[in-house]
Amino acid sequence: MSGPNSDYDPVEVTPLRADEIARMRVEALAAIAAADSLPALKQARLEHAGDRSPLALANREIGALPPQARKEAGRRVGAARRDVAEAMVAATSALEAEAEATMLVTESVDVTLPYDRDPRGSRHPLTTLQERIADVFVAMGWEVAEGPEVEAEWLNFDALNMVPDHPARTLQDTFFLEPADAHLVLRTHTSPVQARSLLTRGLPVYVICPGRTYRTDELDATHTPVFYQVEGLAVDRGLTMGHLKGTLDHFAAAMFGAGTLTRFRPSYFPFTEPSAEVDLRCFVCRGLTPDVEHCRTCKGEGWIEWGGCGVVNPRVLVACGVDPDVYRGFAFGMGIDRTLLFRHDVHDMRDMVEGDVRFTRAFGLEV
Ligand code: PHE
Repeated sequence: MSGPNSDYDPVEVTPLRADEIARMRVEALAAIAAADSLPALKQARLEHAGDRSPLALANREIGALPPQARKEAGRRVGAARRDVAEAMVAATSALEAEAEATMLVTESVDVTLPYDRDPRGSRHPLTTLQERIADVFVAMGWEVAEGPEVEAEWLNFDALNMVPDHPARTLQDTFFLEPADAHLVLRTHTSPVQARSLLTRGLPVYVICPGRTYRTDELDATHTPVFYQVEGLAVDRGLTMGHLKGTLDHFAAAMFGAGTLTRFRPSYFPFTEPSAEVDLRCFVCRGLTPDVEHCRTCKGEGWIEWGGCGVVNPRVLVACGVDPDVYRGFAFGMGIDRTLLFRHDVHDMRDMVEGDVRFTRAFGLEV
């Protein structure tokens, strides 16, 4: 039989029984204690302190009790809910403090760490040295000239008075390009730029041309099939060997320091007459006795070869349409790799071409 009692009927409302309230309180406190993160605590709040939590539902039941039982039940539920709320506040602040402490550790910035962890690249010293050389000549009013690395055989050889059976033209030294009847080579020196400059620029001509050159050498400590030269050409009225010597002494001083000694040694190049090799005073033994006798750098010579030079052969001027009775010129060609080797005491050519950034970086960033 069911139905409302008209007079007092001590209906036990189960959720409000003391042992039930105690159980809900214990479960709520346990869930709060077990929450080990703020999201877990939020879940515990929903389940044990939210509107649909057992204690909240129990609270709603109080109205169903007879008036004389409400006070006691209200006190009991109220005390339990207060305990749960207090535990919730305490747990919240504890977990918040913990989260903040973790964040301070994980998100902290150590300002003492090196800032530049990604190493910045640097330009290759051969590139910067080419620019530096060009600057020396531009400062004297010369112009920078350029020519292609794939060059016409005629400009690389014939225009420079190198006859077809010249030893440098043989397959041993020169990379020829196919098809053979295109008569193209990888330039074996920067000297074709001499011919190009004479053919395309008005006179007088003062040009400097640093660039890449190719010969069929094996890569070893002192040779590389791809190397760099700098060509210089001056063609004007009244130029002499003295102008050439003065220019190269200035160039040597700019590269190796003031007072660098140079000497000319008679030589032969088909495109210059007279011709000379330019030597630098050995920077290790300085040519001084007795050190020079055992010097491995200059092999007892006291001098180190730097490049070739001479007065432009009139045949070259004629081939390029310049009147040799009016104009005379001088030319020179130096190895840039050698210059870098001497300037920076690099011992192995291979370091320059293998692309190890540790080599390049040691030269720093030069712009
Ligand atoms: N082209 C010559 C070489 O490669 C060097 C040189 C240049 C000599 C200009 C004289 C004049 O060896």
